[in-house]
Amino acid sequence: MARVLVTRQVPEGGLDPLVAAGHEIVPPSGDDTPLTPEELVAAAAEVDGIVCVLTDRIDATVLRAGVPRLRVVADVAVGYDNIDVATATELGIAVCNTPGVLDETTADLAFFLILAAARRTSDAEADLRQGRWQGFRMNRFLGQDVHGRTLGVVGFGRIGQAVARRAAGFGMEVLHHTRRNTGMPGWVADLDDLLRAADIVTLHVPLTPDTTGLIDARRLALMKRTAVLVNTARGPVVHEEALAIALEDGTIFGAGIDVFEREPEVHPRLLAAPHAVLLPHIGSASEATRRRMAQLACEGVVAVLAGDRPPNLVTH
Ligand code: DGY
Repeated sequence: MARVLVTRQVPEGGLDPLVAAGHEIVPPSGDDTPLTPEELVAAAAEVDGIVCVLTDRIDATVLRAGVPRLRVVADVAVGYDNIDVATATELGIAVCNTPGVLDETTADLAFFLILAAARRTSDAEADLRQGRWQGFRMNRFLGQDVHGRTLGVVGFGRIGQAVARRAAGFGMEVLHHTRRNTGMPGWVADLDDLLRAADIVTLHVPLTPDTTGLIDARRLALMKRTAVLVNTARGPVVHEEALAIALEDGTIFGAGIDVFEREPEVHPRLLAAPHAVLLPHIGSASEATRRRMAQLACEGVVAVLAGDRPPNLVTH
């Protein structure tokens, strides 16, 4: 029996693979308070595996503290920018993530944000709830159409393609940008060209040094004044203050944002910016998907601890 640290609560059934394998789960109370960096370092030394979430920073200090006992770290997330994979590889600690099981759920939310930001549903609902609605008006809360427009998908992996499938149902033309030619219809080599052409831009790239600040003031200025930007990828891909300014001065029409540069902080200018629909990182948050994500992370841990190679291995 091995000891596995599970840093946060997960939906019921999410830890079943660990339970079935007979591993000891710590903390036994299933506390949902985030561990401090110091607590993570201390805990790493006393476990064989860690199941963590994207807000746990698994850096070199944590990983080195785990030597020689720690064998695997599994992120309950597809994006693993919170883990120092290079150091894990060097130390022989396996890293797993949860690809594939959250694509459709995250694409649903991205498409919701496309619709909500284009049609200004947050502003309109707030007006109604706050008792300001004075009846039907022809000119109130005018938004942008989504059907028949051009969608620009930045990053065309599983989630980006799932959003593109939804767009087909809305009669949209779909362009996509990736650095390497996908060979698929709609590929645009230059991101700037895609930004100029799209009515709605949706981001689906991992967070890397190359994608940090990818959508900055210069690129926002390339977009149409009627355009909508949606980010369900990672907050730092968009320069948050530049986005707030672009919304304030009408450089773009609207934004649907699920992820932020310094979560859980949101830039005060973005909070106050017009035509912004802001959600607290809930892209994959359906009960079934979050349960499956936790199970997949645990399956990775169980496989590594049994000496097997898990399918969701990030380190090679
Ligand atoms: C991920 O998996 O990377 C999401 O951001 C959380 O579901």
